[in-house]
Amino acid sequence: MITVTDKVFHIQTKATSYIFRILEEGYLENLHYGNKIRVTDDYSPLYEKHSTGYGMEVSYGQDKTLTLDNICLEYSSSGVGDYRHEPMELKMPEGSYSNDFIYKGYELYEGIYKESEKTHMPYAMEGEDQVKGEIKEEKEKHKRNKEYIDASVETLEITLVDSLYHIELVLIYTCFYSSNIITRRVKLSNNTKESIVINKIMSMQLDLPDSNYTVNTFDGLWARERHRNETKLHSGIYVNDSTTGASSNRHNPLIILAGEDATEHTGSCYGMNLIYSGNHYEAIEVSGYHKTRLMTGISPYHFQWELKEGDRFYSPEAVLTYSFKGKNGVSHNFHHFIQEHIVRGEWAKKERPILINNWEATYFKFNESKLLKIAKSAKELGIELFVLDDGWFGQREDDTTSLGDWVVNEKKLGGSLNNLVNKINKIGLSFGLWFEPEMISEMSDLYKIHPEYAIKVPNRTPRLGRNQLVLDFTKKEVRDYVIDAISSVLSSANIEYVKWDMNRHISDGYSGELKERQGEFYHRYILGLYEVLEVITKRFPHILFESCSSGGNRFDLGMLVYMPQVWTSDNTDANERVTIQEGTTYGYPLSTMTAHVSASPNHQTLRSTSLETRFQVACFGVLGYELDVTKLSMAEKKIVKEQIEFYKKHRKLFQYGQFDRVKEIRKDRNTAIYQVVDEEKSEAISLLYKRLATPNSGIDRLRVLHLTTDQQYEISVRKQKISIKQFGSLVNQVTPIKIKEEGILQATIDQIYNLESEDERYQLFGDMLAEPGIKIKQEFTGVGYNEDTRVMGDFSSRLYIVKKR
Ligand code: GLA
Repeated sequence: MITVTDKVFHIQTKATSYIFRILEEGYLENLHYGNKIRVTDDYSPLYEKHSTGYGMEVSYGQDKTLTLDNICLEYSSSGVGDYRHEPMELKMPEGSYSNDFIYKGYELYEGIYKESEKTHMPYAMEGEDQVKGEIKEEKEKHKRNKEYIDASVETLEITLVDSLYHIELVLIYTCFYSSNIITRRVKLSNNTKESIVINKIMSMQLDLPDSNYTVNTFDGLWARERHRNETKLHSGIYVNDSTTGASSNRHNPLIILAGEDATEHTGSCYGMNLIYSGNHYEAIEVSGYHKTRLMTGISPYHFQWELKEGDRFYSPEAVLTYSFKGKNGVSHNFHHFIQEHIVRGEWAKKERPILINNWEATYFKFNESKLLKIAKSAKELGIELFVLDDGWFGQREDDTTSLGDWVVNEKKLGGSLNNLVNKINKIGLSFGLWFEPEMISEMSDLYKIHPEYAIKVPNRTPRLGRNQLVLDFTKKEVRDYVIDAISSVLSSANIEYVKWDMNRHISDGYSGELKERQGEFYHRYILGLYEVLEVITKRFPHILFESCSSGGNRFDLGMLVYMPQVWTSDNTDANERVTIQEGTTYGYPLSTMTAHVSASPNHQTLRSTSLETRFQVACFGVLGYELDVTKLSMAEKKIVKEQIEFYKKHRKLFQYGQFDRVKEIRKDRNTAIYQVVDEEKSEAISLLYKRLATPNSGIDRLRVLHLTTDQQYEISVRKQKISIKQFGSLVNQVTPIKIKEEGILQATIDQIYNLESEDERYQLFGDMLAEPGIKIKQEFTGVGYNEDTRVMGDFSSRLYIVKKR
C-alpha cells in the first residue's frame, strides 16, 4: 500500500513503513524505513530539524541552514554539497561531473513497473497469492481516502530532472506487500542534444539516520561459497562487490545490516539484494554525522555507458527488506519474495525430483553400459531423475576440448542421445543433461571456424580458465549460434532437466562489436546472457533448469528468474555444506539450493562422514545423489532406500516449509540447529548437527520455533543406522558379538549389519517446544554405552520430527 499525503510518500508493506518527503528545494528526504508506523497527517516529528546549519558546510538553495551532507536523501546528486559516496557519476554535456536532480512529479499505479519488459533484464513479477485477507482489511479502512490505491503490488515512480539540462532520473519503487519487500531501481533518460556518459549508476540509495550496524556479507571462493562474515561498521566506506563478470562466489550481492542488539531471532535488520548476475557493487558508508548510506547496483568496475540524445538506461532491480525479528526475519521475507515473485514457470512451487548425477561417480570416464548400470541401481533406490553431466559431446574426454561443439558423442553413448534417453526412461527415470553454453574450447570445431566468437583483446593472447575461453555474448551471431545449438539438442530427445554451467571468470574483457564503447562490455555480456536464457527457457517450458557456475559462483536473483534451482557448491562434503548452506539460507529459500549425497571420503576435502549425516544435511535443500550407487554395499543400499522414502514423505516440508536457523554453526563453530515448519504449523523437522565430539560439553537442548503455542505435538527422533566400525576397538563392548577390530569379520558384518540409534519421543505443547525446549538424551561421553546413549562422534547429526497430535 502506498499513500501520498501532501508531500509525503508512505510505502507500507505488511510489517514495514518506508517514508520520504519532498523538501521545498525539490530534494527527497528519507524520513523512516523500519517498523510499520501509524502517522497522523503530521509527519513533522520525522523531519530532520536544522535551524542554524553546521560549521564548514555548503548550503543548498534559499535555505542557508540546509546542507545536503547531513540529511537522509533518497538519491543524491553530485557536486551540490553532499560529500558522501554518490550513487551516480555522470559526465554532463559541458564536461563537468556536477548534476542537480530535483523533484518534478510522481505516478502511482497497481502492479509492477510498467517498463519492466523494456529493461531486458530479469525482474520481480506480480505473483498470484497476494490479495489475502489482510490486504482486503486495509482496503476497507482506507476506502474513503481517494489517494489510497490498494493493490497486492504497487509501483511508485518519482521523476527528478536536472535543474540545468533535460536529463531525467526516475526513481522506481515497487511495494510487495505480503513479502515485506520494496524493490527499487532507476531509469535515466537523456533528453538533451548532446551525449552524456554514465560512469556509475546505482539502483538505489538508502540513508539511515544512525550508524550502529554490523554488516553481514556472504563471501568465499570456489568450493567455499557464501560463508557469512560480520564486520562492525565504523566511519568510512565498506565495499562488497564482484569484478569477475558474474555475481561471483567471492561476494554474493546479498547484504544484511544488523542493528546493535540484533540476533538471529530479534532486533532490527535490513536486507538488500540485486536481481542481477553480473558485476555488482554494494557500498555502505558511515558519515561524520553518524548516518549510514547503503547502495547497490552494477559495479562501476570497467563500466562506462554513453547515453546519446534520446537514449535511456535502466538499472537492475534492487531488493530491500526490513525486519525487527532479527536475521531470520529478514530471511523469511526474502524466502517468501523469491517463492512468490522471483521463481516462475512450471517448476515454481512444484516439488523437485530426487536426482542422480554421474559427475562424481564417473567424471569423464563413462560409456553407455556404465550409465545404464548407475540408472538401474538409482531406480532401485527410489531416485527419480538421471542427470548425465559433462563429457557427452564432441571429443570431450577431459576439460581441454570441445566446449561449443554441442554434438553428441555417439561412440561414447553407444548410439544417439534419443536412444540413451529412451533406455533411461524405460528404466523408469526421467533424463537430464549438462551444458556449458557460454564457453568455447580452443580445441573445438567451433573455434576452428569462429575464433572471433571468443572474448579476447586484439593482439593479446587471451588468458585461459579451466583450459577454456568465454564466448562473446555481446554479439548477436554468438547468441544465435548458442540458442540454435542448445535447442537442437533439447529437441532431439525427451530431456526434462538441464544443468546450465559456467566454469570460469571472465578476463580480457573486450568485444569487437562495441568498438570505442568497451565500458559497456560486462553489462552487455549479461544482457546477452539474459536474452539467451529468456529464449531457451520460454522455448522449453517443461524443462527444470538448474543453474550452476562451478557450483555457486552465480547464485543470484537474476539467474533464479530463469532457473528455479542452483547447484549450491561443488563442495559436497557434509561438514563444509553446513557452513555453505547456512550462509545461503540468509537470502535464499531451500527450494533454490540443491544438495547431493556424495562419496566418503569426500572428493573435495578427503573427509569421511557417515552416510546418514551426508543425507540429513542434504535434506535441507533439494536432495540428490552424486556417487557411484552401483558400488554401495547391501547395508548402504538399505540406508539410502530408507533415506529416499523419508525425503519423499517430507519433501514439501523440506523444500517449501518456513526455514529458521535456530542456532547457527557460526556461533560456536560446532553445533547447528535448523528447522522447517509447514504453513499450517502441523509438522516440523529439525536438524541437529555437531562438528566435533567434545565429551561432557553439556546438555543439548532442542527448541522448535513457530508452532502453535496451545497445540499438542509429538516429537520423535529419526532412527538412523550406526556403523559398527564407528566403535573401533570398543566394538566388543557395545555389540553382543565378539569380533576382531579391522578384521575380515568386522568388515563383512559392516556390509550387512548396522546398530540402531537411540529412540526418543515426547508429547508437549508448542510453547514448551519453543522455550525451554527439550533436553535430549545424553551424548556418548566415553564411559559407557546402552540403547539410550546418543552416539554422535565427529560430523554427526540427528533429525527430529514434530507432528501435531
Ligand atoms: C563444474 C560443475 C560440476 C560439474 C563439472 C563438469 O565444476 O560445478 O558440478 O558439472 O563442472 O565439468
